[in-house]
Amino acid sequence: MSSKVAKGLEGVAVAESSICSVDGIRGRLYYRGYSISDLAKYATFEEVTYLLLEGLLPSKDELKKFSDDLKTFYYVPTELKTFLANIPKEALPMDILRSAISLLGCIDRQNSAYDYEKNRQTIKRLIAQFPVILAAIWRMKHGQEIIPPKKEYSISQNFLYMLHNKPPSDTNVKVNDALLILHAEHGFNASTFVARSIISTMSDIYSAVTSAIGSLKGPLHGGANQNVYRLIQNIKTPNNVEIFVDEALARKERIPGFGHRVYKTEDPRATILREIAGSVADTPEKKIMLEITKKCEEIMLRKKKLYPNVDLYSPTSYYSLSIDVDLYTCMFALGRISGWCAHIIEQLKDNRLIRPVEQYIGKLDLTYIPLEKR
Ligand SMILES: CC(C)(COP(=O)(O)OP(=O)(O)OC[C@H]1O[C@@H](n2cnc3c(N)ncnc32)[C@H](O)[C@@H]1OP(=O)(O)O)[C@@H](O)C(=O)NCCC(=O)NCCS
Repeated sequence: MSSKVAKGLEGVAVAESSICSVDGIRGRLYYRGYSISDLAKYATFEEVTYLLLEGLLPSKDELKKFSDDLKTFYYVPTELKTFLANIPKEALPMDILRSAISLLGCIDRQNSAYDYEKNRQTIKRLIAQFPVILAAIWRMKHGQEIIPPKKEYSISQNFLYMLHNKPPSDTNVKVNDALLILHAEHGFNASTFVARSIISTMSDIYSAVTSAIGSLKGPLHGGANQNVYRLIQNIKTPNNVEIFVDEALARKERIPGFGHRVYKTEDPRATILREIAGSVADTPEKKIMLEITKKCEEIMLRKKKLYPNVDLYSPTSYYSLSIDVDLYTCMFALGRISGWCAHIIEQLKDNRLIRPVEQYIGKLDLTYIPLEKR
């Protein structure tokens, strides 16, 4: 059988979905029909998570019940503390997070893709424990005590509180909510496709999410935000931008934070993130970071006709929240857990094993030569 190859699966629709619409031509993004700009401006991460999972915005009572359910999972499992205490100090947070989620799958022994109600519990556990685990990873890695979450706090508030061991300002909680919402979902991106492929075998949710984290880590996907920060730090001053970019392009390097498989115009998340980055740039250092980023944008558009993606402006905002660069891709995962879980549910509702084909270009019918004669 001969099939046309779509390298990188470009333009191939592999399923019907009602979770997210990415309009790459007009630069629009909708979660369950709601524009991303309204959600980032007005909603909380819990509200958007409910929307992605259930398909509708929650009523006040539904949101309270959902948030209360999440709070029952606000703790760090003992097995995880032991694991974190024994992890090599030099291990990277994304690798620790991936292993930690895999470990959660060992702790939760009833874990199975076949049980609908159990799956909903697993998803709530994952969404609630992601920030708790991530803050614990960071603190343990730096020899600090783990700060237990506060039941009265939201996910955004709790994460910042547990990370820094002090109550965050309302402004920082709002910025963090917006960052989580903007990263929560994006259709059939690489990590989501991985999660759907894994669950399509009727494996389990922890395996799907563990693999999705592995996929997100790559510099062509979520790993780009850490590289954007490092690029800005290497450039140092706005005057250096043009020469840095020119030299990198001459070496045929990819400039992180630019280009996208689907968007042929500006990624709408970049538009909102640029605004947020501007609103939090309140020190000379942050203003310089922002100026360098904007200059990169102007040069990339002029020289390569490439637009910014979601990863260009998030580093300036994470930096303003006093989050270390080694956590930036984990922060992406913290939002994306909602989208992964919504896709896992959708895949399970109408599952068929994901199994594409290759176009074989190797040889056939070769004569086997015994080892001693080769
Ligand atoms: C996101 C990305 C992987 C999409 O890749 P893709 O759809 O496969 O696009 P291609 O790799 O086919 O790129 C098309 C062309 O644009 C160029 N290009 C794309 N993104 C580029 C970038 N960030 N810097 C420099 N050139 C870039 C490619 O070199 C290629 O040029 P060519 O045709 O002359 O070889 C790619 O744009 C990229 O590597 N961006 C940087 C990493 C990043 O920010 N990732 C986060 C994405 S949200």
